[in-house]
Amino acid sequence: MTKLDIPGGTTMNAKLLAWVDEMARLCKPDSIHVCDGSQAEYDALCEMMIASGTMIRLNADKRPGSYLCRSDPRDVARVEDRTFICSHSKSEAGPTNNWVDPHEMRARMEALYDGCMKGRTMYVVPFSMGPLGSNIAHIGVEITDSPYVCTNMRIMTRMGQPVLQILGESGDFVRCLHSVGQPLAPGATDVPWPCNPDNIAISHFPEDRTIWSYGSGYGGNALLGKKCFALRIASTMGRDEGWLAEHMLIVGVETPTGEKTYVAAAFPSACGKTNFAMLQPPASFKGWKIWTVGDDIAWIKPGADGRFYAINPEAGFFGVAPGTGADTNANAMASCAANSIFTNVALTDDGDVWWEGMTKEVPAHLIDWKGNDWTPASAAPAAHPNSRFTAPVRQCPSVDPDWENPAGVPISAFIFGGRLSKTMPLVYQAFNWAHGVYLAATMGSEATAAAVGQAAIRRDPMAMLPFCGYNMADYFTHWLNMGRKVANPPPIFRVNWFRKDGNGKFMWPGFGDNMRVLTWIVDRVRGRTHAIESPFGFVPAYEDLEWAGLDYPREKFQELMSIDREAGVAEARNQEELFDRLFDRLPKELLFERELLKSRLWRAPEVWALFEE
Ligand code: OXD
Ligand code: MN
Repeated sequence: MTKLDIPGGTTMNAKLLAWVDEMARLCKPDSIHVCDGSQAEYDALCEMMIASGTMIRLNADKRPGSYLCRSDPRDVARVEDRTFICSHSKSEAGPTNNWVDPHEMRARMEALYDGCMKGRTMYVVPFSMGPLGSNIAHIGVEITDSPYVCTNMRIMTRMGQPVLQILGESGDFVRCLHSVGQPLAPGATDVPWPCNPDNIAISHFPEDRTIWSYGSGYGGNALLGKKCFALRIASTMGRDEGWLAEHMLIVGVETPTGEKTYVAAAFPSACGKTNFAMLQPPASFKGWKIWTVGDDIAWIKPGADGRFYAINPEAGFFGVAPGTGADTNANAMASCAANSIFTNVALTDDGDVWWEGMTKEVPAHLIDWKGNDWTPASAAPAAHPNSRFTAPVRQCPSVDPDWENPAGVPISAFIFGGRLSKTMPLVYQAFNWAHGVYLAATMGSEATAAAVGQAAIRRDPMAMLPFCGYNMADYFTHWLNMGRKVANPPPIFRVNWFRKDGNGKFMWPGFGDNMRVLTWIVDRVRGRTHAIESPFGFVPAYEDLEWAGLDYPREKFQELMSIDREAGVAEARNQEELFDRLFDRLPKELLFERELLKSRLWRAPEVWALFEE
């Protein structure tokens, strides 16, 4: 069989050419377009989507170079129950992932892909996760029938012709196949947001470094460089090759004297990662700066000097819009001030965007995310709760000068944060690496279990529950091993911004005031401050935190930091559920850490209060 004529194919490596050829024969597009990543190509794709009703150009005075898209209301978020890890054996995927036999899944999806791009263009999108040519970066190629995906990928990754050059004649790449799953019959007019919600499948074949996504055009389901590659496939690459792919933001903390310390922090989805990544210190922290390297994903490799080095594999923010405003995150607002794509937010009468929490005053009239008239009297929100902005990282005012350093930035501490209203103190430090891995592995967030009217804890180890591409127990073992790969593994901290008092009110102001916790962490890393040993870990005394500019009484801090013995024991017991599920492969260290915690709590006074005289 002769090869297809692939425009631009002359610069493609042989493996890529063969794969594109094979996928084109399966999906049967009308034409093939290899993306060069140029501005001219981006502009032309946007014009095409404006003509087809997929995009609306925003007012160039208010939001230059920016567009609004409205998705099909049935296609608005990642779908974890249609996300599959199709490793050769079920135990390889582990009990926390949906597993389907890879042969069965391939057959199932080949039937879906057969002819799925008829009437459409197949775009070939070469992209690099990480700065071009960095030895921490990796290359992927996404084949997609969605021009929306191409334009978003140009913001979210380094995309286009330069990537093909790096790939060269024989380089390897992660194969990412995506289709919205709605072929166009000859002469039929397209809908603004084609998709196939009844047949969505987001499948990962870790051994083949392949992703097959079908039926959705939205976010993490369709921009395959992000959750699918940079977390699920990359986590398996990291396990095999000795590095870490993590659901972490990366920030640099700079002191007034110019000393810089980088930390990486994991929080479950919807816990304010983007805000923490762009934290604006309170006015009392004169001369301190927070620098943003990344807000969602970190790839971390051991360096020759015995430290971990991290890059942000992404080049854009795919941020949740609602709740983001000039008051809560001015850096995020500045990042999406221009050259951005907005999805499922509201449109103002003067051609700009709006969402709940963007401004205090609510506009008198809007077009909501479904395209309908909206006024403050409307019952439903104007923007979908999971509406997004896609914005270039380089536009962030707090972007770190080293964010594209191919060598990465040295990581001096890991922070893990859950969302827990009871029991867990504001901040504590693990006694050592294995204890830190235990703290990260048992991270949890409250999900209200309506049936029993009680808050149940959803364990989200390392914030990776929906993103780990292999058995979670093996992932814990990998973390334990990684601590032995570097001479000086960074200290590990747990934080909890979400503790509530007896009246159900949040006890900690959060946002910029998280700087008070961050500076204590930096001081610990640098050996400049002391800590008290609690049953959970090392904790700061009241005096160890910087309080200037915040009226926070000592008694309230003690309440915020207190550990109730019964509640602590109950928490340790509650961890059983996760550990039991993973028991056959769970590293013994974690079981012993849990026993150690129980015995420390048991020895502690009836109600463990800090700083007793
Ligand atoms: C995200 C998520 O969109 O974690 O970043 O869900
Ligand atoms: Mn995320």
